[in-house]
Amino acid sequence: MRIGIIGAGQIGGTLTSRLTKLGHEVFVANSRGPASLADLARETGAKPVPVREAARTGEVVVVTIPEGKIRDLPRDLFAGVPDDVVVIDTGNYYPRERDGRIGDIEVGMAESRWVANQLGRPVIKAFNPHFRFEIYF
Ligand SMILES: NC(=O)c1ccc[n+]([C@@H]2O[C@H](COP(=O)([O-])OP(=O)(O)OC[C@H]3O[C@@H](n4cnc5c(N)ncnc54)[C@H](OP(=O)(O)O)[C@@H]3O)[C@@H](O)[C@H]2O)c1
Repeated sequence: MRIGIIGAGQIGGTLTSRLTKLGHEVFVANSRGPASLADLARETGAKPVPVREAARTGEVVVVTIPEGKIRDLPRDLFAGVPDDVVVIDTGNYYPRERDGRIGDIEVGMAESRWVANQLGRPVIKAFNPHFRFEIYF
């Protein structure tokens, strides 16, 4: 499969490594741009791309960045991306340690529903031991 990965840290980097080994074609992006991913590309064979390209190239797109940074992604990131492209969210909400307070989550909204709202796309929560398999529309 063609798989887009937005975020190349602990989770995104590990998925890039595992998925390329399994024969998938991986397009990986971070906040600093493709040049900063040269080592990961060399080690795994993944293609480093800008964030928008990662969202548009995959048959599956994994969004794996700190929850608070979801707001920094382009609002139209998935505009025009076909509905059958599955978007996976791995995020956790850590208000004190990392993300700052997110009002909607503080008053009870499920974290992945908040992510889905920000992205304007349904997401599937996965690769995360804190949650059961869940789908947010
Ligand atoms: N690590 C775990 O064991 C684990 C387990 C379950 C869930 N999670 C959750 O999964 C998410 C990712 O965790 P992680 O541990 O992989 O994080 P991490 O190691 O801190 O990596 C974060 C990645 O996100 C990228 N990023 C940040 N802002 C971005 C933006 N605006 N556009 C594109 N890329 C951006 C960073 O790129 P730059 O370096 O270029 O800024 C970096 O590659 C978090 O929500 C975390 O809580 C993590």
